[in-house]
Amino acid sequence: MRRIGFGAKRLAGSAPTDGPDVRERAIALLRRVVELGVNHIDTAAFYPSHGAGGGTAFESLDWANDVIRQALAPYPRELVIATKVGPTRNGLARPDELRGLVEADLKALGADTLDLVYLRQHRLESIAEHFGALAELQAKGMIRQLGISNVKVAHLHEAREIAPVVAVQNRYSVGFGRANDEILELCGELGIAFVPFFAVTGESREAGGVPESDVVQEIAARHGATEAQVRLAWTLSRGRHVLAIPGTSSEHHLEQNLAAADLPLSPDDLDALNSLTD
Ligand SMILES: NC(=O)c1ccc[n+]([C@@H]2O[C@H](COP(=O)([O-])OP(=O)(O)OC[C@H]3O[C@@H](n4cnc5c(N)ncnc54)[C@H](OP(=O)(O)O)[C@@H]3O)[C@@H](O)[C@H]2O)c1
Repeated sequence: MRRIGFGAKRLAGSAPTDGPDVRERAIALLRRVVELGVNHIDTAAFYPSHGAGGGTAFESLDWANDVIRQALAPYPRELVIATKVGPTRNGLARPDELRGLVEADLKALGADTLDLVYLRQHRLESIAEHFGALAELQAKGMIRQLGISNVKVAHLHEAREIAPVVAVQNRYSVGFGRANDEILELCGELGIAFVPFFAVTGESREAGGVPESDVVQEIAARHGATEAQVRLAWTLSRGRHVLAIPGTSSEHHLEQNLAAADLPLSPDDLDALNSLTD
């Protein structure tokens, strides 16, 4: 899998826009994603979504999976499409509701099996019942691989007792989400992919965009790169098992994001970026 994939959350942009032209542009962008050799798309039934009212609130448009099917089915063999289940308009789904969400993803994506499904949990002390429900669907052949998202180290140990976990998806960026350093390192030791979300937008979270940072700006200027590229290159520097999934609505940004894999950050650059904590 290429280390830089594509996140489908921002398909409609980071400001509230919708309409047939937005979907047409999203279809063209997704085709370009695959044309450029990206083989990892991260999606969810509730994407695209964008910030609504600041902080962590967001508004969902719910058409990313339909548009992915329209743009890309029949899918290239090497393409991995990862989905997330858990969040619903009524809060976190109950374990017995997860099957319905998986079936809806299968239908919307036009697939017989989902390549990778994350349990996207929220405020659960134990994820055993939820993850166990997904493991049952995996045993039935509806899901190929399982991941977990928005989790702590204890959740990872708990899930691994139930079924293999191939990926952990948590927030992580320069100076943001550094509480996840520990689980990132553990994933590396266990041979599990760590997939950071908000790698570009960091503390701006749902609102999107690239936050201002003098340190990042100075490094970017010295390399003739953009700040988004420095942020992505830094996340990749955190371990060979880290796979980025930047979200964008722009073909130009998509191309820049893919080029970030080749940005040669020096040991001094990395020291300066590593020292930024939240
Ligand atoms: N598991 C979870 O709970 C969770 C939560 C959030 C996201 N995710 C996943 O993680 C992916 C990444 O998160 P995200 O999309 O929210 O945030 P992100 O990738 O960190 O940043 C996206 C924002 O940065 C902008 N951007 C992207 N590339 C840029 C570039 N080269 N130059 C300038 N601006 C750039 C985008 O706007 P433009 O459209 O203008 O490029 C957008 O506003 C999502 O797409 C989704 O698949 C998962």
